[in-house]
Amino acid sequence: MSLSSLGLWLAVPALTAMAWALTRDEDAATRAQAVGGVLALMLLPAVLLAPVGAALAARVDRRLMLIIADALRLVVIVTVPLLDLLPWTLAAAFLVACLSLLWTPTARVSLPAMVPQDDLRPAARRWATRVLLGPALVAAPVFAVLALVADGTLGRGSRADLALYVTAAVFLASAAAVAMIREIPAEMPHPVPAPLKSLFQGPGTATARGLGLAVAAVSLTAAAVVAVARVHTGELGGGDAGYGSVLAGLVLGLGFGLFLGPRSLVPFSRRRLSGLAVIAAALALVVIALVQNLVVVVFLTGFLGVFAGAAWSSGTAALGAGAADSDTDAPEDTRPSAYLRAVVLVTTVVAFAAVPLIAGLIGSHRVELGGAVYDADGTGAALLVAAVVALLLGAVAYRRLDDRRGIPLGPDLRAALHGEIYTPPEQAAAAAEPQPVRRERGVFIAFEGGEGAGKTTQARLAAIWLRDHGYDVVTTHEPGATKIGMRLRAMLLDRDTTGLSDRAESLLYAADRADHVANVIKPAIERGVIVVSDRYVDSSLAYQGFGRQQAVEDIARVNAWATGGLVPDLTVLLEVPPQTGLGRLSAPADRIESESQEFHERVRAGFRALAEADPDRYLILDASRPQGELSREIQYRIREILPDPVPAGTEDATSTFPVIRDF
Ligand code: TYD
Repeated sequence: MSLSSLGLWLAVPALTAMAWALTRDEDAATRAQAVGGVLALMLLPAVLLAPVGAALAARVDRRLMLIIADALRLVVIVTVPLLDLLPWTLAAAFLVACLSLLWTPTARVSLPAMVPQDDLRPAARRWATRVLLGPALVAAPVFAVLALVADGTLGRGSRADLALYVTAAVFLASAAAVAMIREIPAEMPHPVPAPLKSLFQGPGTATARGLGLAVAAVSLTAAAVVAVARVHTGELGGGDAGYGSVLAGLVLGLGFGLFLGPRSLVPFSRRRLSGLAVIAAALALVVIALVQNLVVVVFLTGFLGVFAGAAWSSGTAALGAGAADSDTDAPEDTRPSAYLRAVVLVTTVVAFAAVPLIAGLIGSHRVELGGAVYDADGTGAALLVAAVVALLLGAVAYRRLDDRRGIPLGPDLRAALHGEIYTPPEQAAAAAEPQPVRRERGVFIAFEGGEGAGKTTQARLAAIWLRDHGYDVVTTHEPGATKIGMRLRAMLLDRDTTGLSDRAESLLYAADRADHVANVIKPAIERGVIVVSDRYVDSSLAYQGFGRQQAVEDIARVNAWATGGLVPDLTVLLEVPPQTGLGRLSAPADRIESESQEFHERVRAGFRALAEADPDRYLILDASRPQGELSREIQYRIREILPDPVPAGTEDATSTFPVIRDF
C-alpha cells in the first residue's frame, strides 16, 4: 500500500513536470494552463466518479483488483515519456486518477480485513489511512532529488522522464508485492458518498457551515500554490528540483499542521484557532505572491501548509467525533465530514483550473514605482487574487466560527499560552465578589459506555481539568453513590443475586438513580456546580432496555419519573468493542459483566443508537484511541457548554458568553 500510494503521489509532480516540459515553446500562459490541466484532471475523477469506483471495487476480487490497478497505472505512466505528447499526458493524468479510484477503496478495506482480531481493526483502519496519505510526505522530496539527478546526468532541462520511469517502477514493485500475498479476505468496501451530492445536501450543522467556508479558503490557498508552482518556480529561475521543493514544503507543512492543530493551545477555542489559521494561511499566500525569491517562497509555502493543516485539524476537532479521522466504523458517512471533504475536492479542482487561467489573463507587467522596477508576472498576480478571495472567505469563516465573540483576541491568546482560559476583567471581578449563588444552574455531564471503555478514567481527567480552570466540580457515579445506593449496588452486582427479574433490576437501578439525583446531583446543580457522573440514565436504556431486550420506552418513562426529567447537558459516549473492553477488566466479572457476548453487543449498539439520535447532546468517541487524544477532544467539547462565570442577571450587559441551556 505504501509503495502504490507513493507511486500515485509521485505521479502528480512527474506528470505536471512533463506537461511543463512538453510546452517548452509555448508562452507562459499556455504552459501554466497545461500544468493546471494535468492537476485538475487528476482530481476530477474523485469529484465525479468516486461512488462508481467504490461500487466497482466491491465487485471484483480484492487481490486481483489491486494488481490490475497497479499494472494499468504502470502502463499508462510508461507510455507518457515514450509517446511524448501533451494530449496523452493530460489523458494519462485522468486515467491514473480513475484507476486510483478503484485501487484506493480496495486497499482501504484490505488492510483491516487481513487483521483477524476484531479489536485491532480500528487500529488497522487508522493505519490504512496513514499509509495512503503518509507517502505524500516522501513523494515531493523524492521527486526533487530525482530532478537533481536527472539534471546532473542528462543535462539541465531534461524532461521528467526519470521521475516517470521511477513512478512506473514503484507501481511494478507494489503489484509484485500484492501478487505474493495469497489471499485477501473479503470485506465490503464502504460505499463512498458522492462529493457533489454531499455538497448539494449541505453541511447539516451551523458549525459545519462555518467550517465549510474555512476549509474552502485554505484549500484555495494550498491549491493555488500548487497550480502555479511549476510556472512560478520557472519564473524565479528554478527547475524541477525547485518545483519539488515547493511541493515538499507544502506537504511537510500540511502534515505538521494537521498534527499541531488539535495539540497546540489547548485552553484556546478550537473554532477561533481554526479561523485564525485560515487567515494566517491567506496572509502567507499574499507574501508568496509578492516575494520573488525561490528559497523564501519554499519556506513560506511550508508555513502556509502548517496553517492550512492546523485550520483543518483544529476545525474538525471542534466539529466533534470522527470528522477528521476514520477510526469508527463508517465515519465517512457522517454528513458534516462528507460535506467538508466535498468542499476540499471541489475548491481544489476549481482552483487548479482557474488560477492558471487568471495568470494567463493578467499576463506579465513591469511596474515602475518611484524609480524602482518590479516585474509582476501573471502567476504572482493570480496568487494575489486567490489570496484576497481566501482572506475574504477566511474573515467570514472566522466570524461564523468564533464562539468567544466580544472577548478580545490578544489577551485570550496570551492566557492560552499560559495554559489558562481567559476571563475578561469585568467578568472576573464580578465572579470574585462574594456571591454565594453565582448562577441559576450548574452543568451536568455524564460519561457512558460499555465495560472497560475507560469512562471512569476520562471522567476523572475531565474533572481535574475543570478544577484546574477554577470550576467547582462534583464527581459521582452510578450505581451506588449514596448510602442507600451502595446497598442497591451490592444487590445489583453481586453474583450471588440470582433470579432477579429484569423488571425488578430496572426498578432497582431507577431507585438508585432517584436517590442519586435527589441527594447528590440536583443539590449540586442548584449550587451552580459542575456535576460529572460516571453513568446515568443511558446506562439503563442500554443495559436494561437494549441488553435485556425490554421496551426501551418503558425504561425511559420510569427513569424520567425517577429523575424528575433531569437530562445531562452533555453525554460523552466512549465506544469500545465488548471483547476489548471486557479484556481490559482486572477485577473478577460482576453480575452484569458476566453476561453473554451478545448481551454486550446489544448494549453497545444501544448506546450508539441513543447517541446518534441526538448528536447535539452527545460526544461519541472511539475509546481505542490514545487516552491523551480522548481527553483533549472531551475538553474541547466541554468548553462549549461551560457556564458563564458572570452572576445571573448581568448577562445582558456583557452578552455572548453563556451557553447554559434551559429545559
Ligand atoms: P460500573 O460501576 O460503572 O462498572 P464498570 O466500571 O465496571 O463499568 O457499573 C456497574 C454495572 O452496572 C455495569 O456493568 C453496568 C451496570 N448498569 C446497568 O446495567 N444499568 C444501569 O442503569 C447502570 C447505572 C449500570
